[in-house]
Amino acid sequence: MKAVQTETTGSIEALRLTDLPEPQAGPGEVLIRVEAAAVNFMDLMRVKGLPFDVPTPLPFVPGAEVSGTVVALGEGVESLEVGARVFGASGQLLNGGWAELTTARAAGLAPIPAGMAAEQAAGLTVAGAGAAIALIEAARTAPGETVFVPAAGGGFGGYAVQIAKALGATVIAGAGTPQKRQVALDLGADHAVDYRTPGWTEAITELTGGTGADVVLEGLGPQHVGESLSILAPFGRVVVYGVLPGYGKIVDVDALAALVNDPSQAKSVTGFNVTHWLTHRPQASLTAVGRLLGWIADGTVTGPRITSLPLAEAAHALTLLERGENTGKTVLIP
Ligand SMILES: NC(=O)c1ccc[n+]([C@@H]2O[C@H](COP(=O)([O-])OP(=O)(O)OC[C@H]3O[C@@H](n4cnc5c(N)ncnc54)[C@H](OP(=O)(O)O)[C@@H]3O)[C@@H](O)[C@H]2O)c1
Repeated sequence: MKAVQTETTGSIEALRLTDLPEPQAGPGEVLIRVEAAAVNFMDLMRVKGLPFDVPTPLPFVPGAEVSGTVVALGEGVESLEVGARVFGASGQLLNGGWAELTTARAAGLAPIPAGMAAEQAAGLTVAGAGAAIALIEAARTAPGETVFVPAAGGGFGGYAVQIAKALGATVIAGAGTPQKRQVALDLGADHAVDYRTPGWTEAITELTGGTGADVVLEGLGPQHVGESLSILAPFGRVVVYGVLPGYGKIVDVDALAALVNDPSQAKSVTGFNVTHWLTHRPQASLTAVGRLLGWIADGTVTGPRITSLPLAEAAHALTLLERGENTGKTVLIP
């Protein structure tokens, strides 16, 4: 079968389209004929050899989530049948999806909702479910609140804009280019600001009449967290869901001290990871995902724009993500 693999970590250029033996479904797993495989930041981090919370065994076939058709069942699998069309996490270690065939734990898969294209289903777990669980469970977003969404022209951010709107919030989108700010407004954001230029927090202060945002999703990194804290309203929550290159290693100590030294403001910062929520808080997570699927079914959430590229263009897709030149969600088609 065709797959994209790297023998070493450290460089996107090391990725090769190659022929590999077909994988076998182990106990509790199924074999999936992949229809689409998402390109996520975690694939980039692992290919580049950056710190990641599960091991990256070499040689490595990236691809943490896929959609496709079940073609074989491993020992003990009763929840799925051959022929079922499914989406969800691939591999034992969130890997192996950039291939014609991949294995996945049956417990980490769900049926592709009726009417949904395989391309959208492929990116629904990390970006879609991630944004839903972050906003509904981690941030406890309430109607009438103001939510700031960074990288709103991207995958996670695109879902977050529409989910926050569905929850009855006012949404301020952050995006690095005029084109991406327009994308965010088209998705339903009430306002869009350039959040990568110094002084961006002033725009948020102005848009909220000096109060600040109730929920701030923070996906850039330590240096940006301090700025996010500075635009937080009383009782506000910063949900840190991502760390990107170029945003330092140290959180602004004064910003944290302000939070701790004035507890009457009741502000908080929390970390977030979709895999950890799905694994350790499955009931709450699946309830949030159920609400997302309901909004998708009734058209409230359409999701970010999807760009489909052939598997052979995996390195190009990762390069765009690394440069921040992607818009919406990219998926690979074997
Ligand atoms: N915790 C979780 O469960 C979870 C789930 C999904 C994603 N994430 C994290 O969220 C972040 C975005 O991941 P994603 O896969 O969803 O991609 P994405 O939403 O498409 O985000 C990429 C966007 O981030 C912005 N960006 C800002 N600084 C950047 C930099 N130094 N390098 C590259 N892009 C930069 C760019 O948009 P602008 O030009 O508009 O700034 C770029 O288009 C990553 O840190 C990822 O690990 C976390």
